[in-house]
Amino acid sequence: MIPDKAPKEDVFLGSEDLKKEAHVPSFDKYKELYIHSVENPGEFWGDVAKDFFWRNKHTGQFLDYNFDVTKGEIFIKCMEGATTNICYNLLDRNVHEKKLADKIAFLWEGNEPGDELTVTYRELLQRVCQFANVLKSQGVKKGDRVSIYMPMVVELVVAMLACARIGAVHSVVFAGFSAESLCERIIDSQCSLLITADGFYRGDKLINLKLLSDEALQKCKDKGFPVKKCIMLKHLSKEPEEIVGSRSPPAKRSCPDLEQKKQTGKAKKTRPVPQGVLHTVSGYMLYTAITFKLVFDYQPDDIYWCTADIGWITGHSYITYGPMALGATSVLFEGLPTYPDVSRMWEIVDKYHVTKFYTAPTAIRLLMKFGNEPVQKYKRKSLKILGTVGEPINPEAWQWYYNVVGEKRCPVVDTFWQTETGGHVLTPLPAATPMKPGSATFPFFGVVPAILNESGEELEGPSEGYLVFKQPWPGMMRTVYGNHQRFETTYFKKFPGYYVTGDGCRRDKDGYYWITGRIDDMLNVSGHLLSTAEVESALVEHKAVAEAAVVSRPHPVKGESLYCFVTLNDGVSYNQTLEAELKKQVREKIGAIATPDYIQNAPGLPKTRSGKIMRRVLRKVACNEKDLGDISTLADSSVVEQLFQNRCCTAV
Ligand code: PRX
Repeated sequence: MIPDKAPKEDVFLGSEDLKKEAHVPSFDKYKELYIHSVENPGEFWGDVAKDFFWRNKHTGQFLDYNFDVTKGEIFIKCMEGATTNICYNLLDRNVHEKKLADKIAFLWEGNEPGDELTVTYRELLQRVCQFANVLKSQGVKKGDRVSIYMPMVVELVVAMLACARIGAVHSVVFAGFSAESLCERIIDSQCSLLITADGFYRGDKLINLKLLSDEALQKCKDKGFPVKKCIMLKHLSKEPEEIVGSRSPPAKRSCPDLEQKKQTGKAKKTRPVPQGVLHTVSGYMLYTAITFKLVFDYQPDDIYWCTADIGWITGHSYITYGPMALGATSVLFEGLPTYPDVSRMWEIVDKYHVTKFYTAPTAIRLLMKFGNEPVQKYKRKSLKILGTVGEPINPEAWQWYYNVVGEKRCPVVDTFWQTETGGHVLTPLPAATPMKPGSATFPFFGVVPAILNESGEELEGPSEGYLVFKQPWPGMMRTVYGNHQRFETTYFKKFPGYYVTGDGCRRDKDGYYWITGRIDDMLNVSGHLLSTAEVESALVEHKAVAEAAVVSRPHPVKGESLYCFVTLNDGVSYNQTLEAELKKQVREKIGAIATPDYIQNAPGLPKTRSGKIMRRVLRKVACNEKDLGDISTLADSSVVEQLFQNRCCTAV
């Protein structure tokens, strides 16, 4: 399934310099290790695990699983019986065993240029211990859920690790989410405490987190779920005593034995991702650490920068857990790529001598629009590897990233993964894999992909269909928090024996994998996965709206944009005030990322005789494509003409 020899034509090769020091220096080495990892997973992962601290070693098989619903309950077990503490591995082990106490863990760069600070592993350990004590003094115990709603500041990492240290489950809510979304997530995870900040600036916009948090807590109370405790960081006012109540007893450096669980994302009623995805410590720790090490070819003198927000899984895995497990130095950036101007990223790259840089296609496309000059103003000589994540990268953006940003010197690792997978699952290795622009190339160690057709048959050779995985790897999710049945239905029911990603995929003649996008009712806007159902339900909550249908329309920068069709209640007329109200409604319910780009008044929606909305037709209307295919099952085909006539040509 992986070619014997790497293709030589139509590919980009990593730099020769990189091969000298790389952990996986050639395609042959990759293939040899890959075969070992899938044939002897216990041995392969057992070796990876040796570098970590274990209070108790695992008993029995390293990995055990059932992916076949027809054979019984779905389960994935990894290192059963092992106990450890992830915070100990990230901090104490680095400080005391690896002699990295004085190494900088984070180079924090604020929203305003010049606003900066550094924190070493020793300092971080101290602050985490102190804050863990604060949490304990507030009654937080092992297993309790804690909600974290903070900007990209060092204290966010401190809060996460303090939870991990005492065995509490952190639920980090992206600070771009609305009060309503925060409230829902607090209730979904049954959080007993909220950690937030007074506010922060995103570019020149003030985000008043205190106000949003107060509103969210009021909503929780109104819904019968009062959260009595809230800790607020004074970030804007910059007082020395930053965390409320941090006058704690001296730092205590103990941590309980645990195989603690992590929870990411919000539990949704409708569809999968990300929905209370539950990971467990041992597997997640091993997997984020090893993918970070090999995919970014981590070297001790690296300055690594992942631009994602920690509120998303990319930040969890590749800002907090993976890099810290290796004792890496990372840039932690609070601001925006366009503030105060569109050179900000490259200014930061030069300022800190960033060697490995990881961002999203949407950011690349955004910056590409401004041409080469803002990039070329800075030298970028330190850069060695570039990465992308979150959505398919179009070859044009890939080429610009490679040619202009990396000056043809830096391999681009296009990492395909999901909240569910914990870490990279299809990805090039920078010194080993010849790259093809737009392809996530080959599986990471331990990962066995397959492409299935609609009948669930595995396709061989060049083909296109559903991307599935045939066996687990340590970083794979274990269940949906509190709803194992939904876990089985969402990911395993469609094709018994396989984990279904929900993405479409093509394999070319050289065996390269190309993600073609979501094949379910999810939208990928600027790398943020949104459920169409969630946006629809926010729209229909408005008193003027009877029905809503949301589809994706390609967008040159964001990848996809939201095109919403609304059917109004009798007697209500469509106008700009209503349009503004609907946009506001979605922003307030979900957050700014879900703001509709287009809203179309649709007195009728295309439905089958059984009343199902034909989204395929709506997608055609959104894109103004008249070739509708077979619409014989439509109950009333006249609505289609009407929809084309009323199309929105410009974004709202
Ligand atoms: O559709 C795929 C897309 O993002 C989805 C996962 O989103 P989420 O769970 O929010 O995690 C985002 C960070 C990993 C996938 O199902 N996706 C992610 N990376 C890529 C991608 N699509 C194509 N190429 C990628 N490199």
